[in-house]
Amino acid sequence: MEKKRFYITTPIYYPSDKLHIGHTYCTVATDAMARYKRLSGYDVLFLTGTDEHGQKIEDKAKEAGVTPKEFVDKIVTGERGVLDLWKLMNISNDRFIRTTDDYHVSAIQKIFKKMYENGDIYKGKYVGKYCKPCESFWTESQLVDGKCPDCGREVQDAEEEAYFFRLSKYADKVQRLLEDTDFLEPRSRVNEMVNNFIKPGLEDLCVSRTSFTWGVPVDFDPGHVVYVWVDALFNYTTALGFLNDKYDDYEKFWPADVHFVGKEIVRFHSIIWPAMLMSMGMPLPKKVFGHGWLLLDGGKMSKSKGNVVDPYILAEMFGVDALRFFLLRTFPFGSDGNFSNEALINTINVDLANDLGNLLSRTVSMVGKYFNGTLPADQAEDAEKDAELVELISSLRSRYEEQMEKFAFQNALSEIFKVISRANKYIDENAPWVLAKDMEQNGPRLARVMYNLLEVLRVCGILLIPFIPDSAAKVLDQIGACESCRTWESAGVYGSLSATVTVQRGENLFPRVDMEKALDQLDEAAQAAKKAALPDLELEPQLTEQVDFDTFCKSDFRAVKVKACENVKKSNKLLKFTLDDGTGTDRQILSGIAQFYKPEDLVGKTLVAIVNLPPRKMMGQESCGMLISAVHTEKGEEKLNLLMIDDKIPAGAKMC
Ligand code: MSP
Repeated sequence: MEKKRFYITTPIYYPSDKLHIGHTYCTVATDAMARYKRLSGYDVLFLTGTDEHGQKIEDKAKEAGVTPKEFVDKIVTGERGVLDLWKLMNISNDRFIRTTDDYHVSAIQKIFKKMYENGDIYKGKYVGKYCKPCESFWTESQLVDGKCPDCGREVQDAEEEAYFFRLSKYADKVQRLLEDTDFLEPRSRVNEMVNNFIKPGLEDLCVSRTSFTWGVPVDFDPGHVVYVWVDALFNYTTALGFLNDKYDDYEKFWPADVHFVGKEIVRFHSIIWPAMLMSMGMPLPKKVFGHGWLLLDGGKMSKSKGNVVDPYILAEMFGVDALRFFLLRTFPFGSDGNFSNEALINTINVDLANDLGNLLSRTVSMVGKYFNGTLPADQAEDAEKDAELVELISSLRSRYEEQMEKFAFQNALSEIFKVISRANKYIDENAPWVLAKDMEQNGPRLARVMYNLLEVLRVCGILLIPFIPDSAAKVLDQIGACESCRTWESAGVYGSLSATVTVQRGENLFPRVDMEKALDQLDEAAQAAKKAALPDLELEPQLTEQVDFDTFCKSDFRAVKVKACENVKKSNKLLKFTLDDGTGTDRQILSGIAQFYKPEDLVGKTLVAIVNLPPRKMMGQESCGMLISAVHTEKGEEKLNLLMIDDKIPAGAKMC
């Protein structure tokens, strides 16, 4: 029988900065869903990628002194870039699209032309406001307090000849789609879209720009590039081969089963996207799910707020599976959630180390200790004591499935952990260590207690595959689960594990994390990462204002020899120099360089000083002139080197 198909997507990421844990959240969720569908027998296509055009990228590339393509290449394919991150996080995407890929670019040109030819795109004049960071156009009435309604930042005036998409024509149809169907979830987002955007009147959308060039060119009107959101949204279809030869499974997978998107881009996916698909005469995706944000200190994570949490640091410290698990176990997918390192460590300790980790290590070690690793066939059920646990195991898959089908990852995991907690209690109720005192009498009962615990671990292990794929496989290895008892089908049946199973004791999968130590380490790692991100070398900018030659000549620079040097009392900055300046009278100069030099290291050196500055008092002592140093910044740290010249240069020699 042909498998049922499932097509799921993540938003394609703007490679304008490195991705943070908020971006990782959505991709991990999509990955869990894709793995769940594969596990339960679907033919899955999971797409992710990068959205590489637009003014923001063009500007950032210019700032970095590289071409836009070089700029995005570094963030997408470079070290610790987008592709590396998804590999690290064990993301199982089947396809990765870059909107700069040729096949996508030419398909977008065809799509734009088709909408132009059918009359839904027309040429007009754009007058309004533009939010650069969001790449969004707004009318005056849409602004909130004169600022961008999405991000709250300043907008700019914009006026230019442009193409428009007849979004207004589709307003009624889109409203009906949102109100009368389950196209958009969670339901609360429907009201937001209808009340904030559709009811006030949907205006036609500006879909081309002439003020920058980094975009898909409108091939029939040079100078115009396609609005980045039109380019981006159609990725979901070009990545299947729509209007291109790169792939050929558009017929097989379109329409998508679900687009997972963050709440701030629901507007694009639930209003503009269906309207454009209607214009193209294409089927609509079955669902758009708008998930919440991970917040830090109550605000959205962003590079500009300086509170980015680096998924590399977290995954390296706690493990990829622990991080994946935390993201989906802690926050309800449809709502915002507050991220904190403490919450992450807590979840690892409570759920993974204490509940799951303990159940696994206790069970496997008891089977080792009491039965040499292999359970005997002779097992004794105790209907009264076993009934509740057996029922929980048998029904877990359907409770889990019900939640997964609603994208309620947190609830699906709760169902699993309820059974794990119950199993830990079952150990205490049955006290295997007491049974083991009389193996002749209690051996069969003890064997059945162990078997039931292994069955809990087996079913939970299978259902955890979508969330913690590597660790779940290790759980199943340790309990000796055979291939056929690791399947979705077997997860719905109590008793699939062979009665005489042999366990394989292995590593402790989820070690407890020492909260304080880990928080300190995180701080250090974050500081080190911050430092590493700083430019290696920063130089003072050169002055552009000119001085005339005569003014320059008025400064009298001389070679001076250090006769004595000492720290100035009560100052941790100042050094006091006694200098031979060639005049026969000692010269005293104070210099704020104590943090860079030990006084004794400078005695005998030949330096350069400007000698005709008016004397100055510092810490009650007179300073006659100034020593010349070279200064720069390295990895954020200020560096200073005194200008030292050849010792054969006599004291008093003039510098010119
Ligand atoms: N390029 C567009 C998407 C185009 S899809 C046709 C885009 N890119 S993005 O890189 O800015 O964001 C990608 C996704 O990451 C969005 O869904 C966004 O909501 C999500 N997140 C970014 N920060 C987030 C959090 N702090 N928390 C949760 N998700 C967040 O938008």
